[in-house]
Amino acid sequence: MQQLILLTCSPDETEVLGQQLGSLVSAGIFIALCGELGGGKTCFTRGVVAGAAPQSSHLVASPTFAIMNEYPGITPIYHFDFYRFASCHEIAELGFEDYFQGHGICIAEWAEKLDELLPRERLEITFEHAGDDRRRITFTACGSVHETLLERVAGVVSPRKTLT
Ligand SMILES: Nc1ncnc2c1ncn2[C@@H]1O[C@H](COP(=O)(O)OP(=O)(O)O)[C@@H](O)[C@H]1O
Ligand SMILES: [Mg+2]
Repeated sequence: MQQLILLTCSPDETEVLGQQLGSLVSAGIFIALCGELGGGKTCFTRGVVAGAAPQSSHLVASPTFAIMNEYPGITPIYHFDFYRFASCHEIAELGFEDYFQGHGICIAEWAEKLDELLPRERLEITFEHAGDDRRRITFTACGSVHETLLERVAGVVSPRKTLT
């Protein structure tokens, strides 16, 4: 499966969706979060960490100033926020790509900024405002590992929320 579009109607629903994904992720997964400010990227990440490393979920905060937060778990989770970067060259200078092909799970907010550094194999998730507390969330999988992951996500989410 390559694409799945869902609608959530509250921050809690977005967090639960993240948790459902988090319970299915494993080492080497790269989650690229895209979309505007307030879209729900950090909220979703809190859910992913709750699913993948429950002992660390209370630590999740937007790493806008730290750039990266690391959460311990069976597999370490690296949570990036590239909001402040003007170009991928600045990101490259700091050497963050070293984490991307490593043995952890990566979640990157403002992944658009990665441009040519964006790993080819990834699960890209775009958040769009859809009125009030609604968010349209589009999952796009690139590469067989991430496509299989997306199929498993589609199998656990409520069909009522699937738009296509
Ligand atoms: N369906 C929804 N999903 C996620 N967040 C929502 C939703 N509806 C309202 N919100 C609100 O939108 C904001 C999302 O914030 P955040 O997760 O920090 O966004 P981002 O990291 O994309 O900037 C929060 O204030 C949250 O309460
Ligand atoms: Mg954020």
